[in-house]
Amino acid sequence: MLTPNKTKTIYICQACGHHSLRWVGKCPDCGTWNSMTEERVTKRKRTFAKQKMTPTPLGEVDVQDEDRVKTGLKEFDRVVGGGVIKGSVVLVGGDPGIGKSTLLLQISEKIASGYDKVLYITGEESLKQIRLRSERLKIIPDKIEILTETNLDLILEVLRQDIPFMVVIDSIQTTYTQNLESTPGSISQIRECAHKLINFAKETGSSVFLVGHVTKDGSIAGPKVLEHMVDTVLYFEGEKNHIYRILRTVKNRFGSTNEIGIFQMQEYGLEEVENPSLLFLSERAKDISGSVVVCSLEGTRPLLLELQALVSPSTYGMPQRVSSGIDYKRLSLLLAILEKRADVSVGAFDVFVNVAGGVKIEEPAVDLGTMVAIASSFKDIPADNRSVLLGEVGLGGEVRAVNQIERRIKEAEKLGFKNCIIPQGNLKALNQRFNIKISGVKSIKETFDLILI
Ligand code: TYD
Ligand code: MG
Repeated sequence: MLTPNKTKTIYICQACGHHSLRWVGKCPDCGTWNSMTEERVTKRKRTFAKQKMTPTPLGEVDVQDEDRVKTGLKEFDRVVGGGVIKGSVVLVGGDPGIGKSTLLLQISEKIASGYDKVLYITGEESLKQIRLRSERLKIIPDKIEILTETNLDLILEVLRQDIPFMVVIDSIQTTYTQNLESTPGSISQIRECAHKLINFAKETGSSVFLVGHVTKDGSIAGPKVLEHMVDTVLYFEGEKNHIYRILRTVKNRFGSTNEIGIFQMQEYGLEEVENPSLLFLSERAKDISGSVVVCSLEGTRPLLLELQALVSPSTYGMPQRVSSGIDYKRLSLLLAILEKRADVSVGAFDVFVNVAGGVKIEEPAVDLGTMVAIASSFKDIPADNRSVLLGEVGLGGEVRAVNQIERRIKEAEKLGFKNCIIPQGNLKALNQRFNIKISGVKSIKETFDLILI
């Protein structure tokens, strides 16, 4: 039951959704500066009918896996935990132009041809633009219906008339509800629209995909609000001038997080990459100093990557440190360790580090590889090109154990490498036999003696 509406003006932080009755320069909740904007919100009091509720014994809860909808795109299905759950809400975030609409149109086609009707609702493009894209993707959109609308109340009316199997909202930032006076894209609009769509998904069992644009600082506008509400959050990332795109799970109520799917953006749409290690190593120049192969674990998936370093005398007073794909602070730390513990004095040199293919690595298991690449370029001695390096490096120059070592070794073995250099601490824990030589190292210096000769 609804009581008369009351409209008032409040200030809402656009980063975290914190409410304040007065304007403040810094959000007291998340600490962001200048993020409070004025919004007019209509408050409605709700009264709930009293219902009798009975708890269910946990043992009697029915768990069946059959509610997963498989798209047939293996890379995508794995990222969402083996298929999309019916009635779940998935947020797909990413920079503008990275390929979100392309990905969702391809998924729509798979689901429409394998299951049932998909309704693609866009507030960003015209019908013609979508038709042109579908022609480019060679999709015959029989069972995909398109609606260009941004008014959520009208959208929900259409949805309820003939409930589709799957709904795509491109994008959540362009939709608005008449209940609120604030502009589309503001945090209260995003939250309200998402809330209504989540209710729709839960009530009807239709799966809803929301496209969310990412703000400059890398978070989805209204990030905390949206991420907490939906079931699954996926980020679509990549460098615009590389063809690789990575779909990453940030949150998943129905599967593991940190899972990744790798695609290539071609002229005819996104193509799955089935053996990414092979692809990332395909352009590797062997016998060049400063190049090593490392193994990074993304979710459950090991990825072999080429890591390159270039160390050259600095022509300016301030030596440069440039890293792409590796955290800049981590690089500074590794350089300090090299200087102090391994007599590699790069103080007066420019250091450039790059992960080939535009991939970002966030785990410390590539420390050892990074340091060997830098030392190799500094000494101008190529590292053995049939070796894969694994290990985290501590401040004392000691090589520390990494997790899930066997998976990583297996990947190196699969791709035909001859030698795997791993932390001594991992050696004892190996249960399997491998068809690859495994050498355990304790310190960074010992590694140099082994590989830079
Ligand atoms: P798009 O899906 O529109 O990005 P988003 O929805 O994330 O903003 O993709 C846009 C880019 O992808 C654009 O620069 C063109 C490129 N592209 C291809 O290279 N091949 C294709 O088949 C398609 C459809 C797009
Ligand atoms: Mg788009």
